[in-house]
Amino acid sequence: MKVYAHRGYSGRYPENTMLAFYKAEESGCHGIELDVQLSKDGELVVFHDETIDRTTNGTGCVKDYTLAELKAFDAAAVWNGVHGVQQIPTFEEYCQWVKNTDLVTNVEIKSGVYYYEELEEKTLAIVRKYGLEKKIIFSSFNHTSVTLLRRLAPDIPCGALVEHAGLGNAGYYCAKYDFQYYHPGFKGLTEDVVKNCKKHHIPLNVWTVNDMGTLEQMYDWECEGVISNYPGVCVGWLKSRQ
Ligand code: G3P
Ligand code: MG
Repeated sequence: MKVYAHRGYSGRYPENTMLAFYKAEESGCHGIELDVQLSKDGELVVFHDETIDRTTNGTGCVKDYTLAELKAFDAAAVWNGVHGVQQIPTFEEYCQWVKNTDLVTNVEIKSGVYYYEELEEKTLAIVRKYGLEKKIIFSSFNHTSVTLLRRLAPDIPCGALVEHAGLGNAGYYCAKYDFQYYHPGFKGLTEDVVKNCKKHHIPLNVWTVNDMGTLEQMYDWECEGVISNYPGVCVGWLKSRQ
């Protein structure tokens, strides 16, 4: 089973920062999940919420700040100085680093709350610029974005990302729309859905698996991967099973 670090090693380091990504790689995990949005001046940034209030020392929407303005905020603000000051990374900065690693990146297109113009196209352009096509899985809660990426980049796999409630007959759905993976939240996931995905040859990457019971359940169900805030713990547990 593969382990993806959710927003980097976000259980121990400031989420979606280069520090969290470096620490994820050190943990020995297979890949990293991150979120992309656009700044006011159209730059691709790695950031989760549509507003900067929860995780930085600023307030307001990502889309209302230029990249230079976003860079001035501290993305580690909630850690009370434990991890120093961390900047919001651009997706390009991330790609420059990750291209020299073996990590697979699950790029979550954040287009479900605010629909950013050209977000999918700009994300794809950076992936191509750095030749990362074979080490990317796109996903989004907005399946229009996923469909668009399948059309723009048939060579890059996509996952249908869904909330915890999940989707009945998910395997059929993914196969029908040519989505290569199913990315459900763990809470509503049942063995029936897992079997349905297997029947349609759709691997599951399940989020956000942060407790041992859920990790063991996903392992027993032979899920393809888990997306976790604690990749080091997951990797350690998996090694202990071998
Ligand atoms: O992509 C898996 C997971 O990150 C989806 O939820 O809100 O953490 O982006 P969220
Ligand atoms: Mg995400």
